[in-house]
Amino acid sequence: MRGGALLILCMVASSGGAIAQTNTDPAMMPAPGPPTQTLVDKGREQFHRTCAQCHGRNMVNSGTTSYDLRKFPTDQPDRFFNSVTNGKNSMPSFSGALDPGAIQWLWAYVSTRGGKEM
Ligand code: HEC
Repeated sequence: MRGGALLILCMVASSGGAIAQTNTDPAMMPAPGPPTQTLVDKGREQFHRTCAQCHGRNMVNSGTTSYDLRKFPTDQPDRFFNSVTNGKNSMPSFSGALDPGAIQWLWAYVSTRGGKEM
C-alpha cells in the first residue's frame, strides 16, 4: 500500500533520523544496467532529504559555494561515490549516514541530468 509506506517515510523523516536510512529490502537494492525510474525516484527523494539543503532543490544552485551537480560528469561514477562517501573540503562525508545502495540511487538521480543544465 503506497500511501502507508509514504506515511512511514514522513514519520521517519520528521523524527530527526532523516539521514540515517538503512534499507535491507533486497527489492530496493541497485540493479545492474541503466537506472530504472524507481531508482531515479528514490534518488530524488534521498537527494531532497540529505543533499538539497546545500545543492539546491532539483540540483539547482549557482555553483558558487556548493558544486553544481547538474554539471557532474556522467562518466565518473567512481568520483561521485568517493566524494559522497568520504566528503570533499566543505562537503561532509556520508559514509556513516548512507549505505551504498542509497548512494547508488543518488547516482541514478544525479546522472539523469546528463552533465547538462536544463
Ligand atoms: C553541508 C553542505 C553539503 C551537503 C549536505 C552536501 N554537499 Fe555535496 N558538496 C558541498 C560542497 C561545498 C561541495 C564542493 C566541494 C569542493 O569541491 O570543494 C560539494 C561537492 C559535491 C560533489 C562534487 C565532488 C567532486 O568530486 O568534485 C558531489 C558529487 C556532491 N557534492 C554530492 C552530494 C550529495 C549526493 C549529497 C547528499 C548525499 C551532498 N553532496 C550533500 C556541500 C554539501
